[in-house]
Amino acid sequence: MTITLPERALVVLVGVSSSGKSTFAQRHFTPTEVVSSDHYRAVVSNDENDQTASKDAFELVHSIVDKRLRRGLLTVVDATNLKTIDRKSYLLTARHYGVATIAIVFDLPQAVLLARHRARPDRSFEETVLDYQLANLENSREHLPVEEFQAIYILNSEQAIESVEMIRTSQVNSYLRETGPFDIIGDVHGCYDELVELLTKLEYDVAQLSHPKGRKIIFVGDLVDRGPNSAGVLRLVMQLVQQGTALCVTGNHDDKLRRKLRGNKVSMTHGLADTVAQVEAEPSFFRQDVRRFLENLPYYIRLDGGRLLVAHAGLREDLHGRTGETVRAFCLFGATNGQLDALGLPVRLNWAADYKGKTTIVYGHTPVAEAVWLNNTIDIDTGCAFGGKLTALRYPERELVSVAAKRLYAVPSRPFLAV
Ligand code: CTP
Ligand code: MG
Repeated sequence: MTITLPERALVVLVGVSSSGKSTFAQRHFTPTEVVSSDHYRAVVSNDENDQTASKDAFELVHSIVDKRLRRGLLTVVDATNLKTIDRKSYLLTARHYGVATIAIVFDLPQAVLLARHRARPDRSFEETVLDYQLANLENSREHLPVEEFQAIYILNSEQAIESVEMIRTSQVNSYLRETGPFDIIGDVHGCYDELVELLTKLEYDVAQLSHPKGRKIIFVGDLVDRGPNSAGVLRLVMQLVQQGTALCVTGNHDDKLRRKLRGNKVSMTHGLADTVAQVEAEPSFFRQDVRRFLENLPYYIRLDGGRLLVAHAGLREDLHGRTGETVRAFCLFGATNGQLDALGLPVRLNWAADYKGKTTIVYGHTPVAEAVWLNNTIDIDTGCAFGGKLTALRYPERELVSVAAKRLYAVPSRPFLAV
C-alpha cells in the first residue's frame, strides 16, 4: 500500500497495544515527528506504563501537537487513539491550522496481538485490556469514516503493514475541503503599508490577525523584493499563516530568497539584495523563521473541492493535481519557451488564452494594469511595487478590491501589459 503524505499533515495512528504502531512510526518518521504518549508518560513519571501519569502525558502530547502543527510540521500521534473522543481534539487542532489529517489504522488478528503481548517484557497489563481495546477498534471502524480525516488507511495484516510505502508530497491537495470565503491577494513585493491598508479595507483586524466573519486570505506569492518593507510583509504574512488566517503559495522571488537563506549562490538582482539586508538586520530567530516558512510553502494549492486553484504564475490544466519539477517550474515562472526577449527577460507565453478548464485559476507573476478574467483565470498582480495597485479577489463573490500604491518603488523593465 502507498500512503501519500502532504508536508503539512497530522497523522493519527490507531491501533490496540502491540499492533506495531511504535515500530511503524520509528521506521517511517523521524524521532521529532513522532509524539508518543508512552514517551511522555515516562517523561513525567519515569514509567511509560504508569497509567496514573496518563493525564499529564496527554496534556504534553496535545501541547506538542499544537506547537508543531502551528509551525506546519508533519506530526504523528503515537498512542492507541481508539475512541472518537481521543481523536477529536487532534482533528480540531489540525483544522485550526489548516493541515491535512490522516488516520493509519492497525487492524491485526487477535491471535497475533496476544502472542506479541505475551512476548513483551515492557507490557504487563492483563490480556483483558486487549479485548477492551479490540472492542473500541471495532467501534472505530464505524466511526472513523464520519470523522474529519482526509484519508484513512487500514492496514489489516502484518504483510500490509510491512509493505507500506510512504510518499511525501507537497501540500497541493491539503486544502481541497476549504470552501472559503477567501480574499486572494496578488503580488505584495514588500509593499507593507499597502498590504495593511488592503487588509483593513477587506475588514481584517490586522492586530488580531483575524476577520470577524472568519474569512481567509490566500497570497499568490512574491511577498518580497522591490517594495520598501519585505521583512515587514514576511512577518505579517507568517503570523497570519501561523494563526490559520492565511494560506500562501510560493512565488519565484520567495523561492530565490529561500535558496539564498539556505546558502545557495543566487544573483542578488530585482530587489533581493535589499530584502536580504532587511532580513539580516533582524534577530537570527527571524531569519530562521523566514527560512522555515519559505521551505514549507506549497507551490500551488487546490481549494473548494477542486473548483479553485491558486498558483503564483498559474497552471496549465493538464498539470492540475500533479507534482514534480515541471509543475513546480510552471507554478513559479509560468509558461516559458526557454527564449529571452529583447530585454533579456524570459519570454512569457499566455497559457491562460488557451485555458479551457472549469477550475478557477487565480494567479499573479505578470503585472497587468487591471485584473481581468480570461477563460476562468485571473491575474491579480496589478504591479503595486511598480506604482500600480495591490489587488484582492474575493472568492466566491468574484469582486475585486484594490488599494493604490503610495509611490513607485521600482521601475519596471517592461511596461505593464495593457489588457
Ligand atoms: N512487533 C513484531 N513484529 C512487527 C512489529 C512489532 O513482532 N512487525 C513486536 C515488537 O517487537 C514489540 C511488539 O510487537 O515487542 C509491539 O510493537 P510496538 O510497535 O511497540 O506496538 P505498539 O502498537 O506501539 O504497542 P503499544 O500500544 O503498546 O505501544
Ligand atoms: Mg507503542
